[in-house]
Amino acid sequence: MRLKGKSILVTGGSRGIGAGIAKTLAEQGARVAVAYAASPESAMKVCENLPGQGHIAVALNVTDAVSVQTGFDEVLKTFDRLDGLVNNAGITRDQLILRMKDEDFDAVIQTNLRGAYLCSKLAVKHMLKARAGSIVNISSVVGQMGNAGQTNYAASKAGLEGFTRALALEVASRSIRVNAVAPGFIVTEMTNALNAQQQEAITSRVPLGRMGAVEDIAHAVGYLLSDESTYVTGQVLGVNGGLYM
Ligand SMILES: NC(=O)c1ccc[n+]([C@@H]2O[C@H](COP(=O)([O-])OP(=O)(O)OC[C@H]3O[C@@H](n4cnc5c(N)ncnc54)[C@H](O)[C@@H]3O)[C@@H](O)[C@H]2O)c1
Repeated sequence: MRLKGKSILVTGGSRGIGAGIAKTLAEQGARVAVAYAASPESAMKVCENLPGQGHIAVALNVTDAVSVQTGFDEVLKTFDRLDGLVNNAGITRDQLILRMKDEDFDAVIQTNLRGAYLCSKLAVKHMLKARAGSIVNISSVVGQMGNAGQTNYAASKAGLEGFTRALALEVASRSIRVNAVAPGFIVTEMTNALNAQQQEAITSRVPLGRMGAVEDIAHAVGYLLSDESTYVTGQVLGVNGGLYM
């Protein structure tokens, strides 16, 4: 129960890695705000299945500053405190560069990078007053090693890692920590869509010989949100089975 008494907001929490993070944080004692952009039913279902009490589903579209403000207002009104923020919301719009539409480049940056900026800004505003807090940004191994067909996504995640370090420096004196977790290939609906041959091609490159589970990411996030990591800031924790070192 290393997160007992903590209130934590997870963006994009209604499915995939975000839903897995919400579950693990609740298991570790946190009260969780499961933020969703498009699917209140899924977010409410995630909430209902979380252990413990007081969890809420909150509408929060990270590309819309008004929606971010409204979502944060609701979380702070309900919880009266915010100990942690997980910037998990993210999208892909894969294409080789000559075929990539400008709007697909922009959409990925807007969601994955600017979205984390908007949410972090409001979280920091509250955490500065509390003189405590932990922000965890969900990056990707692709931001570190690149991937053909993902110039937009790799740029957004590499940018998020730079953002993590810069913000960590800005707020360290107030005991606010900012870190990132960079997952490798994780089993989710997204990767389930790959055929067996594609999945085998991925696993053959991973030294630990398997794709990651959502729980692998969630446990790393739980650690960075907990008081077990109070001397850790500005770091990117790779959770990738050794794919990139
Ligand atoms: N699955 C992987 O293998 C993998 C690997 C590395 C990094 N990641 C990162 O992990 C995070 C979660 O990915 P996932 O695999 O669970 O994908 P997913 O598509 O299942 O989940 C993404 C979540 O983000 C939400 N979202 C999208 N746009 C949003 C917006 N504008 N506002 C608020 N929420 C929005 C979606 O509704 C969804 O709930 C992403 O940041 C992704 O880049 C995933």
